[in-house]
Amino acid sequence: MAVQHFLTLRDLPRNTLKTLIDDAVRLKKARHARAAAADWLPLRGLVLGMIFEKSSTRTRVSFEAGVSQLGGSAIFLSPKDTQLGRGEPVEDTARVISRMVDIIMVRTFEHEKIETFAQHSRVPVINALTDDFHPCQLLADMQTFVEHRGDIAGKTVAWVGDGNNMCQSYINAAQQFDFQLRIACPDGFRPMTSLLEAHSDRVSIGSDPAAAVDGAHLVVTDTWASMGQEEEKKLREEKFARFQVNHDLMARAHDQALFMHCLPAYRGHEVSAELLEDPRYSVVWDEAENRLYAQQALMLHLLGLPVP
Ligand code: CP
Ligand code: NVA
Repeated sequence: MAVQHFLTLRDLPRNTLKTLIDDAVRLKKARHARAAAADWLPLRGLVLGMIFEKSSTRTRVSFEAGVSQLGGSAIFLSPKDTQLGRGEPVEDTARVISRMVDIIMVRTFEHEKIETFAQHSRVPVINALTDDFHPCQLLADMQTFVEHRGDIAGKTVAWVGDGNNMCQSYINAAQQFDFQLRIACPDGFRPMTSLLEAHSDRVSIGSDPAAAVDGAHLVVTDTWASMGQEEEKKLREEKFARFQVNHDLMARAHDQALFMHCLPAYRGHEVSAELLEDPRYSVVWDEAENRLYAQQALMLHLLGLPVP
């Protein structure tokens, strides 16, 4: 059977994604209740390879802790210390590492690079963020919505800000989790046209944050300058000045609306400090925590191990 990878949300069928979210919710409840059986170590003897070509706090800690809690272990690999950083082809790296470990996560720049990696890997490959997509974050976001408000199907989500990897993952999520997505982006910073066109039944785009947020059940934003765009920071701050998510904007959303941000957040830029810290709306800390459980559920699924 072909190896199952997770490079975008579209790699798994809708019902599998739904099961993963349910599994993640149960894994979290069990851990919070300290009910996880000490002898339930489904990843015992298994090894996760973690390739990071960009920085990370949440992704690294959630994958590494997540594997350890289930009895497995992880190897952190940075280009600084591996031959990948000295030009060894990604195809060769994938073939070698995947003969030694059981599952691999990759955080890199070009999405094509992780596709090439996956094509040459014998074991499941997980996208831990590329320039185009961040599907693991979406699993955590969907789990967070379910925990706070129930099913997201039929709801309206507003994306305000850059048409970046997170925005593009929200477009895929609209399809897979069955919600409407309204995007507000400055001109010149829109998500891929092909992706918008493929999802025009569920996704609309404009440049007015107020119109996007009007009545929305979930409002989401992200940094204006993603990793690799540090030199554009100044220019982006000018172009995105109208796109801050704050209490004034949230007041236009549904009265039960939630605010999410994958973090790291830049207070006073894409989100006001007051909104980020306001527990009436902001669920960003739960969202970060859920990376742990959503990825545990994902790894168990890709390795064919059931969650009791
Ligand atoms: N949200 C997220 O992926 O954070 P890190 O960059 O810290 O991993
Ligand atoms: N869009 C951001 C997400 C960080 C988790 C970036 O790519 O830097």
